[in-house]
Amino acid sequence: MGVRRNDNASPDPNRSETAMPYDLDEFIADCRSTLKQDPGPAGREKIRLRLEQLLKQPAFLAAHCSDETPAGLHVLHDDKELGFQILAHINEKARMSPPHDHGASWAIYGQAASYTDMIEWERTDNGGDKAELKKIKSYRLNPGQAGIYQDGAIHSIDYPDKSRFVRVTGTNLDKITRSMFDLKTGKMAQMTPQRAT
Ligand SMILES: [Fe+2]
Repeated sequence: MGVRRNDNASPDPNRSETAMPYDLDEFIADCRSTLKQDPGPAGREKIRLRLEQLLKQPAFLAAHCSDETPAGLHVLHDDKELGFQILAHINEKARMSPPHDHGASWAIYGQAASYTDMIEWERTDNGGDKAELKKIKSYRLNPGQAGIYQDGAIHSIDYPDKSRFVRVTGTNLDKITRSMFDLKTGKMAQMTPQRAT
């Protein structure tokens, strides 16, 4: 006779008892229904909060953002109808991006592991070829926290080795024109696909 399983055993210590269960499929469904109802800033804010909930789920993190997840960019969802994307950025090496925008799209960055330091910038010139940027806000996104960058917003990111985050973008950024800025010279350049995120 084998040992009988005790159904009254203590709960799995790795299981979170506080975060309400939530998974990627539910998040996708919430993004779809929210954006259909309100594609503007208020709808995006609801998505930001839902992304924070998703990033607190051990099962989601284990499946898509763990130490075993291969490094690189993983497309978790590409919405054929509404155009938004959900991307897991599994970074191996530290990186500091130049200030950049997301073109006519918005973007939400949610931290899965380690951290990302964010700086938000604003242009103080009249929109000529040589940009002048002023720092307006800087903060750190820690695991479970998400930040939102509305259409045309300029930010830069700085993260250490093995930082992992999930990004939701209003559209596939590879298909739109985006700008990045050289802080020293003010020179603007077009971004190549998925560069600087
Ligand atoms: Fe970005």
